[in-house]
Amino acid sequence: MENFNFHVATDIRFGKDRLSELPEVINTFGKNVLLVYGGGSIKQNGLYDKVRHALQAATVVELAGVEPNPRIETVTKGAALCREHHIDVILAVGGGSVIDCSKAIAGGAYVEGDLWENLVLKRQYNGPAIPIVTILTLAATGSEMNRGGVISNMQTQQKLGMGGKNLLPKVSFLDPTNTFTVNAYQTAAGSADIFSHLMENYFNATPGTDVQDGVAEGLMKTVIHHLPIALKEPENYDARANLMWASTLALNGLTGSGKTGTWSCHAMEHELSAFYDITHGIGLAILTPRWMAHILNETTVPKFARFAKEVWGIQEENPEQAARKGIQALYDFFLENGVPMTLPEVGIDTEKDFDQMAQQAIAHSTISKAAFVPLQKEDVIQIYQAS
Ligand code: NZQ
Ligand code: ZN
Repeated sequence: MENFNFHVATDIRFGKDRLSELPEVINTFGKNVLLVYGGGSIKQNGLYDKVRHALQAATVVELAGVEPNPRIETVTKGAALCREHHIDVILAVGGGSVIDCSKAIAGGAYVEGDLWENLVLKRQYNGPAIPIVTILTLAATGSEMNRGGVISNMQTQQKLGMGGKNLLPKVSFLDPTNTFTVNAYQTAAGSADIFSHLMENYFNATPGTDVQDGVAEGLMKTVIHHLPIALKEPENYDARANLMWASTLALNGLTGSGKTGTWSCHAMEHELSAFYDITHGIGLAILTPRWMAHILNETTVPKFARFAKEVWGIQEENPEQAARKGIQALYDFFLENGVPMTLPEVGIDTEKDFDQMAQQAIAHSTISKAAFVPLQKEDVIQIYQAS
């Protein structure tokens, strides 16, 4: 295990009926609030009215319409609102896209000039930021308790991660009932994202990380158990609660700290979203089993066999056979939970962009050097083709 710092100072308010705490939380930061939300789900399910009611004593400016795969134009608009209205605190009510957009706005309000050039392309942001409070409505990204955000530029066909310690939410309200209205497709996509975050950390070459790997296995089993329940009974509190807490713990540093190296599937997926604007978790679900099959070799077999045994309960003596059964189990799990498992099913029915997407996946990340199994452009193209 490598040395690490683990200091994730987000104040988590988990559970139902806790919105009465919101006024006091907001008040700690000031009176002027930028309320950021997405395309209207919070208006349909009544959360918007509850939040506005709780913010009665504050001066509220709204930024509505944050896109899934949030755009740089929306970030720029939000940063301008913050400057114009002397915003003290950003309240992000939504899924990962709303929270990520809010993070970029929080830093962007202090950045001069073009925010794509001077904020996102820099990737690491160490400057000041407006404090962020979140009310999470979709279990998926872990953005509610981490310092990263992902912003898209559709003009340049780029989708890039950026982050910094001042972008970490100060307080996050995690009320599982706020996810009751998430539809089956987004529930499955969110769970695939949680699963992928765990797997990206799990399939890593750093030895001696049994704590991280054991926690990851437990969280993966939690998702396997609770996703089908949440799909069948969208208002099952415990299923939604377990998915929500799993999403937060899957990407708050708990299972990734103490390891070196970089993730593989996220770099490849971000190019699918950048070129075709697909749902992040679905792209990951499609790519992951193909990536696993592609990198299966003598060195990786033992970890794959452990994954099969510990996560899927596969009893198979031959390690390579076990590894293959584990990959199949993952594929079947996504399929059974309604995930479209090929690229043509999500509208990517041509290979014309694969070359450029693969090139960008390599250029925007360190997968060619630091991945579990380093991937070159040709590998990425083959994984896209197998998908
Ligand atoms: O926009 P609204 O109307 O709110 O609808 C959203 C959106 O259409 C809907 N939704 C959210 N909560 C709902 C709901 N519908 C009904 N009831 C509710 N309670 O779901 C749709 C998807 O929302 P989005 O926020 O885009 O989903 P998600 O949370 O999966 O976020 C995806 C974004 O996060 C990035 C992804 O790349 C993508 O851009 N990621 C962020 C990470 C991070 N910050 O750490 C890490 C991840 O790996 C990921 O890359
Ligand atoms: Zn993800």
